[in-house]
Amino acid sequence: MNILGISAGSHDAAVAVINTQGQILFAGHSERYSKRKSDPNIATDLIWDLSSGRHIDHIAYYERPWLRQLRQWYSGQGIEWSKLTAGSIIRQQLQGHFSHVPVSTHSHHLSHAAGGFQTSPFDRATVVVIDAVGEWDTATIWSAEYVNGRAQYRRLWRQLYPRSIGLFYSAVTEHIGLDPQNEEYITMGMAAYGNASYSNQLQAVAQENLHAGLCQTFLPGARKQDIAASAQVVCEEMIYSIMHQARSFGWSTNLVYSGGVALNCVANRNLGEYFEKIWIMPCPGDSGSSLGAAALAYGGRIHFDHAYLGRVIPGPYPVHAVVSHLVVDKLCGVASGAAEFGPRALGNRSLLADPRATDIKDRVNAIKKRQRFRPFAPVVLEEHVHDFFDIPGGWINTSYMQVVGRCWRPDLYPAVCHTDGTSRIQTVPNNNSGIRQVLELWYATTGCPMLLNTSLNIRGEPMVNDRADADRFEQLYGVKVYS
Ligand SMILES: [Fe+2]
Repeated sequence: MNILGISAGSHDAAVAVINTQGQILFAGHSERYSKRKSDPNIATDLIWDLSSGRHIDHIAYYERPWLRQLRQWYSGQGIEWSKLTAGSIIRQQLQGHFSHVPVSTHSHHLSHAAGGFQTSPFDRATVVVIDAVGEWDTATIWSAEYVNGRAQYRRLWRQLYPRSIGLFYSAVTEHIGLDPQNEEYITMGMAAYGNASYSNQLQAVAQENLHAGLCQTFLPGARKQDIAASAQVVCEEMIYSIMHQARSFGWSTNLVYSGGVALNCVANRNLGEYFEKIWIMPCPGDSGSSLGAAALAYGGRIHFDHAYLGRVIPGPYPVHAVVSHLVVDKLCGVASGAAEFGPRALGNRSLLADPRATDIKDRVNAIKKRQRFRPFAPVVLEEHVHDFFDIPGGWINTSYMQVVGRCWRPDLYPAVCHTDGTSRIQTVPNNNSGIRQVLELWYATTGCPMLLNTSLNIRGEPMVNDRADADRFEQLYGVKVYS
């Protein structure tokens, strides 16, 4: 029996297929197929990929549509009558496919919680979910454990709309001229360049309903960097307050953290002050709730070994070709194997570069054309990470770029260090992944166990998905992409 989990209809549509042995058969993002960033609808080619050769026996939807519609009506957004039931949304989203398959609906925050807990290594955990808003909840705390092999959840605390950390951060993102629900990570990066001189003012407005954004005349003349820095401080204070409360329930010293706010890797650096062990799934935002909803319908533990779960570019990983190219030209792309589930390129759809090269940041920026102040991320052999970075030891999985650590030698590796001396690190354990093999050969060849890793995408588009995308990238930028 196979279960299809769906998160779609709002933003960042995604699907996940699991079987009743708890194995993930496929998980993918719609935007990678439609080339429309944050696409709210499921692309036709994604339906083909999820269903190829598979029977779907059950469909699990990631939230309760009528509750969302009620909240939207309450907040003055009106009711979308075509989205009042999961049945009507799924019929529309799946374009008539699987029309006779039974459907279950699951609460938005519980889907986040299950996507985290049931992919975690824990038997028992405190679960914290923080996002913008789904139905009515904007932050929740849960107890979670397995009873006779089935995950059981009990909500311990909730915060309701309109008060919302996610909406606050998105409102600030919009106020400084960026794209809300899409470019919060740029706000986070910009914060390192500012002073948190407006934290009192932002603390005050954070208590208000910010769904419609901040007033245009708020903080006239203030530097964007200072607003971003102040917002980050306020955001962290609110997150840590919830973490403190979650720990005080005394349920477990294990934390599972989900929801879009869990992508704030700068705030995540201090979570070890509240919990002993922490799991954040690689896709903690709404798209990961496709897997969460499927997990709830299934009930048991999901085997989560890696995030390579999407569209497959077949063939062996081009280890030797990539390293040979990097030795000579310092920069190349790789698009091989299954696409990553989650917002980060982790080696299967990556632009890789030599972090020691003095001109490398300019060269990568010439391709990516993103803000020059933003650093790139390092990917490093796990056993060497402490030679370069002061990163959390043991309490959080660092394989998915979810936490920052201080770089010991920013002078040697400026392209992968932020202005505040931190890096968003991806460690690679001793597994058989393609990126592991590339790093091992790169280390044996050069003595450097680290590469620069940024997502392989054409500017303004989502990450490369298939070979045709990789070819377009190659032609557009004149950069070799190996498959
Ligand atoms: Fe959410």
